[in-house]
Amino acid sequence: MDQKNKNAKKPTYSKFSQQELPAWKPILTPGWVIATFLTIGALFIPVGLVALSASDTVVEIIDRYDEECIPDVYSTNPESFIQNPATEKTCVRSLRVPKKMVAPIFVYYQLENFYQNHRRFVKSRSDKQLRDPEAYNDTHTCFPQARTSDGKPIVPCGLIAWSLFNDTYRLSTRGKEIAIDKKGIAWKSDMKAKFGSDVYPKDFQKGELIGGAKLDEKVPLSEQENLIVWMRTAALPNFRKLYGKIDVDIEAHETIKAEVENNYNTYKFGGRRSSFFRQRPGSAAKMIFSG
Ligand SMILES: *[C@@H]1O[C@H](CO)[C@@H](O)[C@H](O)[C@H]1NC(C)=O
Ligand SMILES: *[C@@H]1O[C@H](CO)[C@@H](O)[C@H](O)[C@H]1NC(C)=O
Repeated sequence: MDQKNKNAKKPTYSKFSQQELPAWKPILTPGWVIATFLTIGALFIPVGLVALSASDTVVEIIDRYDEECIPDVYSTNPESFIQNPATEKTCVRSLRVPKKMVAPIFVYYQLENFYQNHRRFVKSRSDKQLRDPEAYNDTHTCFPQARTSDGKPIVPCGLIAWSLFNDTYRLSTRGKEIAIDKKGIAWKSDMKAKFGSDVYPKDFQKGELIGGAKLDEKVPLSEQENLIVWMRTAALPNFRKLYGKIDVDIEAHETIKAEVENNYNTYKFGGRRSSFFRQRPGSAAKMIFSG
């Protein structure tokens, strides 16, 4: 091989190609390590302060009502109270507002010891049927709430839909109603993609044993937001689901009168129920970040 060719293969000289770049090899003495950690720690203090002040402004009210909303005479057999259509289910609760709550205020219902993720429960639905009007007969995954006693397909079928939460809340302060807006509580993507705008409830909750709320047969599933929220099943036995939103502020030290219709049967398995109110957090955090 001649000299010229050899030279052509020789890399051009640079500190990088020759691995002669200066290197930094810190010696990790205890003093050095401690100083580094302290510096990094100090850098995160402002982040912590922002998070702290944001959570400080979150105003929350929680009111457990499942026990107190059973009249004394039924206290040994609350299920008979729930299943009797003639009993008076409305129960009045007084809620103190500790700090001013700024709209929008989110209203939730909270269930505890409720296994919405139970194997038998979670599978008892037909996603195809929820989406597609032609698939109304697709109920084979919906046992034991697939068909009416005379064999007609139930829409929406399955245990999850059947057990739709049916307590209701009515709120007021000083005799003036506080409206709860129940629109805009479900995920838009669920409303669009998972629940058909041309699928209507049919033969739902018509059986002998009522599992929960009924559905308006004139409203398509894609607009039954309480159902859509309910059917996004919770993975844990204690969970909260959005009930609605309040679009007005509530002043500090007001008392909210909450008329709870205590309909839902969690007594069989010792489930607990609460209403839960929260002002959307972040008004303070937003101020700090944006200015
Ligand atoms: C509906 O499903 C049932 C049981 O799966 C079946 O017997 C019946 O023929 C189906 N009806 C229609 C109209 O497809
Ligand atoms: C509410 O659901 C329970 C079952 O959880 C049922 O027994 C009751 O009849 C239902 N009541 C109403 C008003 O829908």
